Amino acid sequence: MNALFLALASLGAVVAIRLLRSTMDFISFHLLPGTHTVDRYQRPGNTAWALVTGASAGIGLGIAQELVRQGFGVILLGHLQDELDAAAAQLRAMRPPVPVAAAADRDDDDDDDDNDARVRTYLLDARTATPSDLARLAASLSGLDLTILVNNVGGNAVEHPPFRPAATYSCADVDAVVDQNARFMARLTTLLVPLLARGARPDAARSGRNRSLVLTLSSGGYVGVPYLVLYSATKAFNRGFGAALARELALDPATAHVDSLVVIPGEVASQGNCRGVPSSAPRWDVFGREVVQKAGLAAARGWKEMFPHWRHGLEYALMDVAPSAAVEKALVDQMRAKKGAWDDYLGKNK
Ligand SMILES: NC(=O)c1ccc[n+]([C@@H]2O[C@H](COP(=O)([O-])OP(=O)(O)OC[C@H]3O[C@@H](n4cnc5c(N)ncnc54)[C@H](OP(=O)(O)O)[C@@H]3O)[C@@H](O)[C@H]2O)c1
Repeated sequence: MNALFLALASLGAVVAIRLLRSTMDFISFHLLPGTHTVDRYQRPGNTAWALVTGASAGIGLGIAQELVRQGFGVILLGHLQDELDAAAAQLRAMRPPVPVAAAADRDDDDDDDDNDARVRTYLLDARTATPSDLARLAASLSGLDLTILVNNVGGNAVEHPPFRPAATYSCADVDAVVDQNARFMARLTTLLVPLLARGARPDAARSGRNRSLVLTLSSGGYVGVPYLVLYSATKAFNRGFGAALARELALDPATAHVDSLVVIPGEVASQGNCRGVPSSAPRWDVFGREVVQKAGLAAARGWKEMFPHWRHGLEYALMDVAPSAAVEKALVDQMRAKKGAWDDYLGKNK
């Protein structure tokens, strides 16, 4: 009897300590100012660059905006030049001035010291990019101090209606989702890791500075949601890819200064996610800012993934403890509501 009591008490203590620890982690991550910021990916003289895929709108543009605020040069990758140009113009208008010391030292002929030149665009379609397109992209980046890759491009790239059973997908629909969400980011990341690892500094591990980062957008949909079967599957791929990469990079001294972090958004109001979105969802720009402001802290804690928005973190934590029937119902109801909103919209706009 005593042994049973002791075993139950020990189990209770372990569960209580784990709960307390995750609560403290949650509070400190979302409410207290971080001691580790995205500065860990900056370089002396603010020479660091970030490549953001799918950056002309939505979360990618929000991430690019905050990177610009934090003094990074950004390359916006997208598939429509006029949309990229509009996004670049917006970012150039908000670019913080070159610091006085850097301005005094600079050679006026050097494009890299020009505020405008610190925002660039790169035209490439993630669905159709070939290995030689990707090699050209990598070559174009080789002269830059690339320290951040944001694998953001993604969505449900199928013929409308977007929310429908997998059995209605054509082969082209299947390929489009896999190519855009999984194949492109996997090919791009493997190609760019050597560039991100270049210029490792001996103090990177000890000081937590001069590091590089691969940021990969997954989705809460990785759990597997109806009417988005292919999308869910590719988002689980993104999550597994980012976590495996994190562990692998840490093993090799030549890449141990490159962090890999998966971002898991719940509902975010954006160009792509614009119907049946709960009013509590953060907007794309708010969410993008949170991603950048919290990435350094999450990576410094050794996390492989993060929920940058507090509400999403709470929702997913509750899913672990709530009765599974209630979780199932909430998931299915949410997807039914989104499908209904799109079907209504498309029905009215035939
Ligand atoms: N929003 C959410 O609630 C949510 C939730 C979970 C996960 N996510 C993930 O977060 C990421 C961003 O989502 P979002 O909602 O911000 O997307 P979004 O609003 O649809 O924006 C997507 C961006 O990617 C560009 N793009 C689209 N197709 C492309 C292609 N084939 N090649 C290159 N660029 C392309 C778009 O450019 P154009 O405007 O020129 O088409 C746009 O700049 C995705 O990976 C998504 O799966 C989003």
